[in-house]
Amino acid sequence: MKHISRREFVRLSALGIGAAVVSTGLAGCGSSHGKIAVSFSNGVASGDPLQDRVIIWTRAIPEDLASVEVSWEVATDREFANLVHTGVTQTDASRDHTVKVDVQNLVAETVYYYRFRANDNTSTVGRMKTLANGPLASAKLAVVSCSNYPAGFFHVYREVAKRDDLDAVLHLGDYLYEYEMGGYATEDAVALGRTLAADNAGELLTLTDYRRRYALYRSDPDLQTLHAKLPLIAVWDDHEVKNDTWRDGAENHTEATEGPFSERRMAALQAYFEWLPIRPAVAGDNETIYRHFRFGDLADLYMLDTRVIARDEQLAMASYLDPATGTFDAARFAADIADQNRNLLGAEQMLWLQQMMTVSQGKWQVLGQQVLMGRMLIPAEMLQNPASVAELVAIQQRIDGGDDSVTEQERSRVETKIPYNLDAWDGYAYEREVILGLAKALDKNLIVLAGDTHNAWANNLKTLAGDQVGVEFATASVSSPGLESYLGLDSLPAVLQSEYSFGLLIDDLAYCNLNQRGYMVLEMAQEEARADWHFVNTIKAPTYIEDSGRHKALKVRSGHEYRYIEAV
Ligand SMILES: [Fe+2]
Repeated sequence: MKHISRREFVRLSALGIGAAVVSTGLAGCGSSHGKIAVSFSNGVASGDPLQDRVIIWTRAIPEDLASVEVSWEVATDREFANLVHTGVTQTDASRDHTVKVDVQNLVAETVYYYRFRANDNTSTVGRMKTLANGPLASAKLAVVSCSNYPAGFFHVYREVAKRDDLDAVLHLGDYLYEYEMGGYATEDAVALGRTLAADNAGELLTLTDYRRRYALYRSDPDLQTLHAKLPLIAVWDDHEVKNDTWRDGAENHTEATEGPFSERRMAALQAYFEWLPIRPAVAGDNETIYRHFRFGDLADLYMLDTRVIARDEQLAMASYLDPATGTFDAARFAADIADQNRNLLGAEQMLWLQQMMTVSQGKWQVLGQQVLMGRMLIPAEMLQNPASVAELVAIQQRIDGGDDSVTEQERSRVETKIPYNLDAWDGYAYEREVILGLAKALDKNLIVLAGDTHNAWANNLKTLAGDQVGVEFATASVSSPGLESYLGLDSLPAVLQSEYSFGLLIDDLAYCNLNQRGYMVLEMAQEEARADWHFVNTIKAPTYIEDSGRHKALKVRSGHEYRYIEAV
């Protein structure tokens, strides 16, 4: 990579050398056999912005699939009249012809444009922005997760890309899904014209499989538009490897027929690092994904890995049920969930987070991660008999209304609660308590971001002692189906009734949208931060509108007396 300053470039240009500097990127393309055509058909992307550097990405596929030299240019204008950096790099089949450059010596809080060239071919132009230094009045991030190509159109990506007010996009994982045609959420793929490629229609297993799936997703025009518009800050969730991935396995992996999980995981993570504009901790490390971003003095963002490095296997509710009697061993269940040796982040990542948060000067401490941290405890009876919800709601309404006629038995029906998603922080309660206790001890303003569930949520975060220490804002999916499909909510009144019931029965839940696809915007200022949830009316047709009637905004004010969710 070659860096030249703008002043240097102007001077070299005046000497007639500038053209030569730029054209070094083209030096390798001419051959006596003529120039090989190079395709940039997967677009461009940028990511992991810091104050002085941003990763730029493309894929350069030469017709002969051989090694190819690719030059890159970064300018302060879309026409590339004011070129500030150029360089040359090489790519080949060993990295799926992907190109990743960490462009350095950039100026903070500045918009740049970039493009790539190889032989006579030029990529589309991408736009990126560095992060701010020093005092900062506000920062605005879009938050997305769970984009499932065969499940529907990526209108949500299009909506984010339309906006001109964002600093970056956070992708909280499930950037792609590993399933085969006929598998999860593929039932509309043929009708939508979004089938998996013929050579990649099986469940992803090998490096080639994962690479081809990325190539399909990256052929989507809305995703390409989003990448070209904004820098991405991404973490994986489970489906970048397999459903319900944990450290040494996954629900959707069978060693006997699919081989060692470690090999599959290695292939999946390699493809991820090839295809995402992400900066490795050290070159060649495809595993360590947790990292930090500073937004001036306003916020510190910690992107966390709750999947690959340390996660212990998910607990299974069924293993606490006595098959003979149907009795639930609540004591053993509670003890296992609270086990101090149970890992989600693991000791090393937790220590890093503790150290970073302790020294942080940022007004907001933001965790960018996958799974819901809020305590989603529902009456245990709902798990066994979902039809009981109406009765439970009626009892809770009477309790809330101060009705003296509520019996002990009725009270026990609504107050005997149990977590329903053991893949989330609810299944790893000890580490959650460590983080919430840390926020309290440090007296910091904690905002946790989450994806994974496919629905929008907002939770108040409390320690076991009941201290309110922060909030959680969780985004809906881009296109994966949400609770509406599991709960069979086929009309808006049914959806609204369920949302009301969840809000009433789940203590810390402040908001949910159970049926729509969308994105979230997190806007942070010194005194308050707000989350805005935006939804589209459909992902099952090429045309759509934003469903502004269901738009929602909530806020949290900084300072220890205010750290709870408020209406805007
Ligand atoms: Fe997902």
